[in-house]
Amino acid sequence: MSQIPGITLNDGVRIPQLGFGLYKVDPLQTADAVRTALEIGYRHIDTAQMYRNERGVGQAVRDVGVDRADVFVTSKLNNGFHKPDDTRRAFDDTLAALGFDYVDLFLIHWPLPTLYGGDFVSTWQTLEEFKNDGRARSIGVSNFQIAHLERLARESDTIPAVNQIEAHPYFANSAVRAYNEENGITTEAWSPLARGSALDEPVVTRIARAAGRSPAQVVLRWHVQQGNVVFPKSVTPQRIKENFALFDFELSRADLDALSALDRGEAGRIGPNPDRFDLIRS
Ligand SMILES: NC(=O)c1ccc[n+]([C@@H]2O[C@H](COP(=O)([O-])OP(=O)(O)OC[C@H]3O[C@@H](n4cnc5c(N)ncnc54)[C@H](OP(=O)(O)O)[C@@H]3O)[C@@H](O)[C@H]2O)c1
Repeated sequence: MSQIPGITLNDGVRIPQLGFGLYKVDPLQTADAVRTALEIGYRHIDTAQMYRNERGVGQAVRDVGVDRADVFVTSKLNNGFHKPDDTRRAFDDTLAALGFDYVDLFLIHWPLPTLYGGDFVSTWQTLEEFKNDGRARSIGVSNFQIAHLERLARESDTIPAVNQIEAHPYFANSAVRAYNEENGITTEAWSPLARGSALDEPVVTRIARAAGRSPAQVVLRWHVQQGNVVFPKSVTPQRIKENFALFDFELSRADLDALSALDRGEAGRIGPNPDRFDLIRS
């Protein structure tokens, strides 16, 4: 039995609220890191075509011998593949690399509003095919701004199950989070630890000391209590273990508010702005 609570997405699929992130995990280290995570108890893995490490995810699931149905696996469409035929081919490649006949969640990684003539709608309609044929249990988006979500609502039949966006104490991304919530879209917070930069923050270390917890646990718990799905990345076994222990303590309202007060708005962003991001890496 998983110790991790699930969240029900708008299509009825359950997602474990805590997962394991794989951005910048070397493809050669990936199977080892995912095996460690699965042995600790993680049952949700976040990869992407762009990370080039999908193969190691499938390998680790088979090595550890967990039932495929007990692991929630997300991947994401690479930026070069937004044209429908490319999207179909890329999705086939994802399933082949994972060695699975379905993914639990497939996302458009970036909206790329300045590329493809601004057309992310036909890309989204192609993901709807994968949902309809059962090869993606859920479909969603990543880095979509409110205007992009409004356009999908107007021009397609499916509300994304999730929107995976940058969110951490320095960048709460509040307006997009609020839109997600009002429209039944689950928020997944990427770079939940601000890539580690939030962990020396005096407010964080003070709360951690008082709670007898690590700074990373405090920041992740702040996400969890807001209802965010998180998947911190680490290749350090001790940290992978530490990041898993979030469900046996609670932060007070005052602690949550103190952490939320660290928000710097746009200045706190560490990743690119989705309205302008246009990088295609083959
Ligand atoms: N959709 C998107 O556009 C997008 C963008 C970025 C990320 N993501 C997803 O979100 C996941 C998480 O984001 P992220 O990898 O950018 O950043 P993150 O999880 O906020 O931070 C990862 C960094 O924090 C360190 N760390 C992890 N746990 C720690 C702990 N307990 N104590 C101290 N340091 C710790 C890691 O170091 P070590 O590894 O050296 O231990 C690594 O340097 C990614 O892996 C990816 O799956 C998605």
